[in-house]
Amino acid sequence: MSEDTTFNPISVTAYAVGEKKDSQKLVSFDKVEKQVKSIGPNHVFVELICSSICHTDWFTFGSKGAVPGHEMVGIVKHIGENVAHEGKIKVGMRVGMGYQFTSCRHCETCTNNLENLCDSSKPFYTAPIGGGYQTGVVWDAHFVFPIPDNLKSIHAAPLLCAGATVFTALHRYTKNPQYKVPGKPLSCAVLGLGGLGHLAIQYAKKMGLHVTALSTTASKEEECRSFGADEFYVHTTEEAKTTLASKFDIILNTVSGDIELDKFIVMLRPYGQLCMLGLPSNPRYDLSAFSLILKARSLVSSVIGSPEELNLMLKFSADHDIKPQVELTTLDKVGEAIEKVNSNKVRYRMVMIVNQEQVDKENQ
Ligand SMILES: NC(=O)c1ccc[n+]([C@@H]2O[C@H](COP(=O)([O-])OP(=O)(O)OC[C@H]3O[C@@H](n4cnc5c(N)ncnc54)[C@H](OP(=O)(O)O)[C@@H]3O)[C@@H](O)[C@H]2O)c1
Ligand SMILES: [Zn+2]
Ligand SMILES: [Zn+2]
Repeated sequence: MSEDTTFNPISVTAYAVGEKKDSQKLVSFDKVEKQVKSIGPNHVFVELICSSICHTDWFTFGSKGAVPGHEMVGIVKHIGENVAHEGKIKVGMRVGMGYQFTSCRHCETCTNNLENLCDSSKPFYTAPIGGGYQTGVVWDAHFVFPIPDNLKSIHAAPLLCAGATVFTALHRYTKNPQYKVPGKPLSCAVLGLGGLGHLAIQYAKKMGLHVTALSTTASKEEECRSFGADEFYVHTTEEAKTTLASKFDIILNTVSGDIELDKFIVMLRPYGQLCMLGLPSNPRYDLSAFSLILKARSLVSSVIGSPEELNLMLKFSADHDIKPQVELTTLDKVGEAIEKVNSNKVRYRMVMIVNQEQVDKENQ
């Protein structure tokens, strides 16, 4: 029996990008009321429980009127005809959505479960009513993920982008290393300990790697060790430079600013890989060919995860009790929340509650 797909109009409150503030990196937000009157046959309408702030949202701040947000969890309220027919996503399910809104579904990458790399991939801000800084979203059901029961919504939201990105990179690049020191676990450094970085420590540890945290912030040491880091260094010191030479098989770069690549490339062992995840403000890399080639090191990268990888990540997180350390606020305080993330003061992911009643219910 297929589900009822009749659609009654729903009111949504959104926080859209407004004017630029003094600092280039900050904007004001305009509260916008809208009505959703219908959804497409492949879409679902999800009423949000919470929505978290990823640093990639900054790339939408130049587009006035855009609704940012791409780590969100909510309850499915309506489904399109094709979704009902397919039967995977149902009304009443608790689900999450991440960076990707849709893809073409028929190209070579899509048909080989690499939808995140599709040429026609479309991000969150192009979704019919925009991304997660609002009370509900309309999403392509193929990019909607059921949340395991033992993950609370406030912990699941940051996994939908931050968790997926670091899990996918670790899963892919540590499976078949080019070289491994016999008898030793792979040595992994996590560079930059924000939303992505603090989750990367947890996944890497549970995957059996030796984990070193590299930060600019000395006060993060104790918490990072509690996430599973075996070692911790402030990477801006002279001491770090000598101690860390040729030490790692893989470095995950999760820094949101610009970094000097040469400084980190020399920390890799022969055949080591520097995996670029953080998106710098300067889109050109500057790198010495000699530090790279003379030890056969490589620069690799990764972007979010495919639906298959997202489902795998959610299961792995639920099975291994991996969850982000979150700070909570409410959606109407989005402007203040953004300023706090921007000044690197959040430990370690800012989650905005949209439906307090639902969050309280999960805490009982
Ligand atoms: N590839 C992908 O698919 C993907 C997915 C999601 C996000 N991203 C990108 O990944 C980056 C991290 O995102 P996030 O949400 O984790 O950000 P975040 O929570 O703000 O954390 C970024 C961390 O980078 C470090 N950092 C910031 N500025 C720095 C600078 N100038 N020099 C050195 N370190 C600096 C800080 O860590 P310490 O205090 O430890 O130094 C900070 O906590 C962003 O660029 C984001 O756009 C990429
Ligand atoms: Zn993100
Ligand atoms: Zn495609």
